[in-house]
Amino acid sequence: MITCDSLVYQPFQPTGDALACDGVSIQSIVEHAGTPTYIYSARAIREAYRAIDEAFSAYPHAIHYALKANSTLAIVRLLRSLGSRADANSGGEIKVAERAGFPSRDIVFTGVGKSREELEYAIAQGVGTINAESAGELDRIAAIARAQHRVARVAVRVNPDIDAKSHPNISTGLKTNKFGVPLQEARSIYRARRDTKDLQFAGVHIHIGSQITTLEPLRRAAAALVSLALELQDDGFALEHVDLGGGLGIAYEGRPIINPADYAGAVIPELRRIGLPVVLEPGRAVVGHSGALVARVVDTKCFPDGRKFAVLDAGMGELIRPALYGSFHRIVPVVARRGGETAWDVVGPICESSDVFARDRMLTPVEVDDLVAILDAGAYGSVMGSNYNRHMLAAEALVDDGTWTIIRRRQTLEDVLALER
Ligand code: LLP
Repeated sequence: MITCDSLVYQPFQPTGDALACDGVSIQSIVEHAGTPTYIYSARAIREAYRAIDEAFSAYPHAIHYALKANSTLAIVRLLRSLGSRADANSGGEIKVAERAGFPSRDIVFTGVGKSREELEYAIAQGVGTINAESAGELDRIAAIARAQHRVARVAVRVNPDIDAKSHPNISTGLKTNKFGVPLQEARSIYRARRDTKDLQFAGVHIHIGSQITTLEPLRRAAAALVSLALELQDDGFALEHVDLGGGLGIAYEGRPIINPADYAGAVIPELRRIGLPVVLEPGRAVVGHSGALVARVVDTKCFPDGRKFAVLDAGMGELIRPALYGSFHRIVPVVARRGGETAWDVVGPICESSDVFARDRMLTPVEVDDLVAILDAGAYGSVMGSNYNRHMLAAEALVDDGTWTIIRRRQTLEDVLALER
């Protein structure tokens, strides 16, 4: 058994002597799809979505799946079929959500640095709420709405200066981060625009970071947001929701961490002070455990000091998280060879010393042509892929109900060169 948080469904488990995804042979998938390939379990996504939905069942809530975690159409459609709404971080993500069938009103548009074209598109489509990142952005939204003879529904994202205690690159709620408006300025920003006919202040928004594994920062963020919302209600704003953003972490290392029920237990008492519906924007907690990156070993080598390298045909161009954040991902040979575990550096093919998935990882013997699965790669994996060194974007396959389909074919050089002359 591959164990992790016992409450979380683990789709990648051995069947016989080989790793499978929901019982479907990984070898059989990559025989057709080649490597590297992302393989996802639809069941894992369903179960993770339901766990969040059920955790909040005692409180009015709307789950807006954060497309940035994984926006492959088939995954987004699956979330839509479960009743999710969408959180889009760019014009591109809005259009993908719409293509996947989300009505524009079910989309919240978040994110720092929205371009004029993106705002014009979002307002013309009538997206549910635009989470504004600055006073200037609010005023640009108002001007665009006026020009379109529309009223834009907005919330302001506040930066509460709370340490999410996550990796510094994915913490967003500190005053040194570029995100949101300072909490203490938020009230005056709302008040100064109270009579702006082109804006409807639908809510307030916060998002303090990602891969958060302790409850206290999440609870404090909820408390700060609710306090602001209560003040705004006193000022006469007819708010309709409070938006807590995303951020709930997942157990990458096999040790249980906070789960959706813990999260709901921490924030619902704060939410009850105001009673307004809550918007949640989870990404990683929905899709993180569902995916593995399956790669082939293309070389092995041993240096005189004993250091052993397993070089894969996937690297930071497929999954950049270890190189960018030093993140840990479990690595499992698809068919384990006999023999004791020894320490391996598992690396990619890219000309960068940071192109390393793991150092000194204890693995059973690894040989050229073996397949390995890098687990918990469903979130911020394929979406962060690049063509560096002219590697082609990986294929993606979805396992559902005992069968699998290619949901994104492997990119070809012709696809890439079609943009060039
Ligand atoms: N809402 C907002 C406004 C966000 O900025 C994010 C993530 C989310 C929701 C979803 O957060 P989640 O539930 O997935 O934590 N590439 C990094 C993570 C970047 C997260 C960016 N914002 C990683 O691989 O860890």
